[in-house]
Amino acid sequence: MSKHGLDTTWDTANAIEKTKKDDVCQINHEVKPYSLEVVKGAWLMGDWERLTSCPIGEMQDMENREIHALMAGAAYMQLGDVKLGRLCVSQAREWGCSKHLIAKVLTTGVYFTLGRAEFLNNQRLKSQNHVITALRSFSNDNEALIPTVDLDNISAVLGTSLLPPPLSMHGFIDWVMERDDAPILRYLFKVHQPKRHLEFGTWQGLGACLCLEETNATVWTINLHDGETKPDGSWAYGERVLNEQVPNDPVSMNFGEDDKGPIVYHRTDAGSYIGWMYRQKGYGHRVCQIYCDSRQWDASNYPPDFFDSVFVDGGHQSDVVISDTRKALSVLRTGGMIIWHDFCPDTEVATYNPVAKEVTLILQALLAEIGGMFSHLGWINPSMILMGIKK
Ligand SMILES: C[S@@+](CC[C@H](N)C(=O)[O-])C[C@H]1O[C@@H](n2cnc3c(N)ncnc32)[C@H](O)[C@@H]1O
Repeated sequence: MSKHGLDTTWDTANAIEKTKKDDVCQINHEVKPYSLEVVKGAWLMGDWERLTSCPIGEMQDMENREIHALMAGAAYMQLGDVKLGRLCVSQAREWGCSKHLIAKVLTTGVYFTLGRAEFLNNQRLKSQNHVITALRSFSNDNEALIPTVDLDNISAVLGTSLLPPPLSMHGFIDWVMERDDAPILRYLFKVHQPKRHLEFGTWQGLGACLCLEETNATVWTINLHDGETKPDGSWAYGERVLNEQVPNDPVSMNFGEDDKGPIVYHRTDAGSYIGWMYRQKGYGHRVCQIYCDSRQWDASNYPPDFFDSVFVDGGHQSDVVISDTRKALSVLRTGGMIIWHDFCPDTEVATYNPVAKEVTLILQALLAEIGGMFSHLGWINPSMILMGIKK
């Protein structure tokens, strides 16, 4: 028991959720103090609202009050409230926070801000480098040593007698989600049997179908209504369509004709294309389709233990991956499964697959701090899948 008469062994994620949902006046009495690790995790995941949810006056009697004040100050600065930010930081100093730690946290904040500015300026690579520098400057290790789970051994890790699919015969250079990762995802859903599943990034609905076909789950899935646009203004997901069966009223562009026929491109992650596969297969009644930028999705209306599984497979930019991961973990129950797509630490993959490179770098940096939230965490080899079971 702590000096406050509270049990100090507690579930960090639940406590953060509780802090967020409770009336701030009750925080001091009902919520156990955060450990440094938890507050750092919230900071790295950009959870400014949570970090500023406790008024400074109520931190007086909390353990690690100097850290709370510092993190709140840094979060206020991220939210643009420099006055409150300064107030909290000077309170942190008064409560004994070291100058070194203050400098470290504020520097991290500067890199986050630079990352956002470069992103808005369409400088994606620079943006990513700033975010990675921010994550690393705050982390004890440069990278999380994310364990590898061989696909052959995954049934033991998951405690099931169900055998995994056979290893793909293809190398990473011509790895295809539909052919090479889909059987593994199917297997994970079959073993885990979620009742409520959340997916970031619907696209045409393949991932949702894998879950719908292997379980009785209801699936919540999020996608930008008008599709993703690259920094240069072009579509992130466009395909030339010839004679395929396609959804009604697609968003399309016509570029004349060539020897194959009309040059028509469809935006395959916009409008009627979003989720057409699950509708065509008759699963529409089991899906809650959410149309928004996932960074704007309000996860706070869902109870913290609402989802049994989450698939993070939306935008690949650093800030989207961080935001989706944070929201996923805030609504995933203890024992729930989180799956990230496009994660592959194989060093060669980074040379020809920029998406996997970006997602892997960000998650390695992020998981150095939040890795403690999982009872199992591992890259499934061979695949583009990282899987975790929340503690
Ligand atoms: C890789 S695809 C998803 C594939 C899908 N999960 C599947 O299994 O077939 C990524 C999707 O995320 C969407 N997306 C990108 N950025 C997003 C954002 N910020 N919010 C919501 N959706 C986003 C894209 O429009 C695209 O449809």
